[in-house]
Amino acid sequence: MSYSTSDSAACELRVAAQSILSEGYFLFGNMPSYSDAQREQVQLVLDQQAAAGFGSKSKYLFGNIGMYIKLVPGYSAGTVTSLYLSSNGATHDELDFEFLGNITGQPYILQTNVYAHGVGNREQRINLWFDPTADFHYYSVNWNQNYVMFLVDNVPIRVFKNNQNLGVPYLNSQAMAVYTSLWDGSQWATEGGRVKIDWQYAPFIATYEGFNVDGCAVQNNNNLAGCAVASSNKWAQAPALTWHQTNQLKWVRHRYLVYNYCTDKMRYPTPPTECGTSIL
Ligand SMILES: *[C@@H]1O[C@H](CO)[C@@H](O)[C@H](O)[C@H]1NC(C)=O
Repeated sequence: MSYSTSDSAACELRVAAQSILSEGYFLFGNMPSYSDAQREQVQLVLDQQAAAGFGSKSKYLFGNIGMYIKLVPGYSAGTVTSLYLSSNGATHDELDFEFLGNITGQPYILQTNVYAHGVGNREQRINLWFDPTADFHYYSVNWNQNYVMFLVDNVPIRVFKNNQNLGVPYLNSQAMAVYTSLWDGSQWATEGGRVKIDWQYAPFIATYEGFNVDGCAVQNNNNLAGCAVASSNKWAQAPALTWHQTNQLKWVRHRYLVYNYCTDKMRYPTPPTECGTSIL
């Protein structure tokens, strides 16, 4: 991810909201505003002065993490709205939802990406089966020692399996914080960068609510080892996908998948190892 981070320590996010912000978040860029404190809604604002975002102070190793998001309505081309998890350092782990905006009336694309030990560029893109600007939808990841599952309204859209036995790095040794952002991705986001942000439509606003973080919290790496093993961390344990989830995943991949790094011969003449394994 790349965006300009302007630290705003003075602008600490403090809300009495139980589920969202009990553990503390930090902000960057434009100050988020509460459109509806009762519903724990936070608006991120992108204008010509600054991007916006917030992130958790706590870090996690495994968990179920998600949020309701209503995307920028109308003209959103060039904007990228995101929800992601990331660790720090050169060989970092990262899981991304990136919503690529579009000109008015044209569909958003949802891009997901996975970095494990610094190895990334595993983009996949889907169309959504609804208008993500009309209402809130729930975007989440189930992350455990066997797989990372990305879900939209609890429908699995992608599974990244632990293929360490095949030499593919997996996300099981670094704690990640949870972040959101809304920024200018004109260089690449919409039709490969052909369509840019049009500032006459600014400010661009995305609304987030109901931040659900249910994971194994790691404070100053003290609990890293404890979180890493399934015997002491329920979140490390991997529930098998139900028959229904398996069918949903196949339905999404059949109907809505529009880009998959695994089949991009230009970028990967030899597909990465994990691409040769089954999707589940
Ligand atoms: C934007 O709309 C165009 C035309 O429908 C489509 O080809 C494209 O995939 C859409 N999304 C993005 C992010 O470019």
